[in-house]
Amino acid sequence: MRLSQDEIDLMRASFRQVATAPAVAATLFYDRLFAIAPEARPMFPPDMEAQGAKLISTLGIVVSQLHDMAGMQPVLAALAKRHVGYGVRPEHYALLAGPLEWMLARSLGERYTPELAAVWRKSFAGLTEAMITAAYPAEGSDRASA
Ligand code: HEM
Repeated sequence: MRLSQDEIDLMRASFRQVATAPAVAATLFYDRLFAIAPEARPMFPPDMEAQGAKLISTLGIVVSQLHDMAGMQPVLAALAKRHVGYGVRPEHYALLAGPLEWMLARSLGERYTPELAAVWRKSFAGLTEAMITAAYPAEGSDRASA
């Protein structure tokens, strides 16, 4: 995944806005995930507060390192491999795109332009591709292009 400097700046500015209310963003995200994929709910702990904080802070790290995704690779690989232990399968990653857009649209309001949505989609696809390829080497390349 390659992002231009403008795209990176756009992502960072939008994430700063999301991060002003991290708990709201996390709730929007997981409520939407569990509404569209109730089967994923039992994988997570009953109390989602800590999980939500971890998700938003991890997204913050990724957004801060968008200029060096290769350097992020070991961190993403380790994160993805821990997810194998949580019972996560490659096909679960596709479930997150909709909730992410839902959360961004509501957190950013009119600042969530089609251009910004496209940059987030591209970045998130790159992130999930890197995670799937690292954790499921035999199946990652098929899924990544989906
Ligand atoms: C972009 C992809 C993802 C990111 C950035 C992400 C981020 C995180 C983070 C930071 C944690 C905290 C624990 C740790 O660091 O190991 C976590 C835990 C977890 N994630 Fe993800 N995750 C992603 C994809 C997924 C997917 C696709 C699923 C399945 C639907 C999932 C389910 C879980 C579960 C079940 C836990 C453990 C909860 C617990 O038992 O405490 N994650 N995730």
